[in-house]
Amino acid sequence: MIKLSDISIRFGEKQVLTNFSTQLPDRGVVLLSGESGIGKTTLLRILCGLTQPDSGTITGLETRKVSVVFQEPRLIEHLTALENVSLVSDRKTAVRLLTDLNLEKEMNQRAAKLSGGQKQRVSLARAFSFSDDVVLLDEPFSGLDDQNKLRAARLIRTAQLALVVTHDATDAELLSADKIITL
Ligand SMILES: Nc1ncnc2c1ncn2[C@@H]1O[C@H](COP(=O)(O)OP(=O)(O)OP(=O)(O)O)[C@@H](O)[C@H]1O
Ligand SMILES: [Mg+2]
Repeated sequence: MIKLSDISIRFGEKQVLTNFSTQLPDRGVVLLSGESGIGKTTLLRILCGLTQPDSGTITGLETRKVSVVFQEPRLIEHLTALENVSLVSDRKTAVRLLTDLNLEKEMNQRAAKLSGGQKQRVSLARAFSFSDDVVLLDEPFSGLDDQNKLRAARLIRTAQLALVVTHDATDAELLSADKIITL
């Protein structure tokens, strides 16, 4: 069990999270929803250690390997799709994940030349090639058509634990979500 206890954070005058507590199971798919600006991305950043909360604790992640799919793809633009993913894994794993996500033809294209949805899938492949233990995903379906959304969902379900930020209530069914947290 991963426990978040009394997490608070403010940016300047703006209090974003106030004594927020919740629990995540060790395995499964958990959705995180809530209106724009409520603090979903901030919570993911706290979970992966990129942002320090002002107060509060997180337990249960100490021994886990966490990877992240950011809200923007954040690829290295002058490297190819395959090179971007291979930065964090071996080439064989990178090829398998890119193929699973329908990118076999784009593998050797530079990231700069890819479409938004293609970049999003490369970013998914990169996260899973680093770790499928705990994967934090910030709106991973943005820009994906139905077929690619299904492929992405299939991959997301292979994580030990996936925490998925989404605005779309139908994603709960698509991902067979075990829990929904609303901020
Ligand atoms: N580094 C920062 N400096 C100042 N304010 C910040 C910073 N990061 C986030 N915020 C503020 O914190 C609030 C929550 O931001 P966050 O990005 O977590 O929202 P979100 O729920 O992910 O929204 P969206 O659904 O639009 O992505 C917003 O008001 C935002 O302006
Ligand atoms: Mg966000």
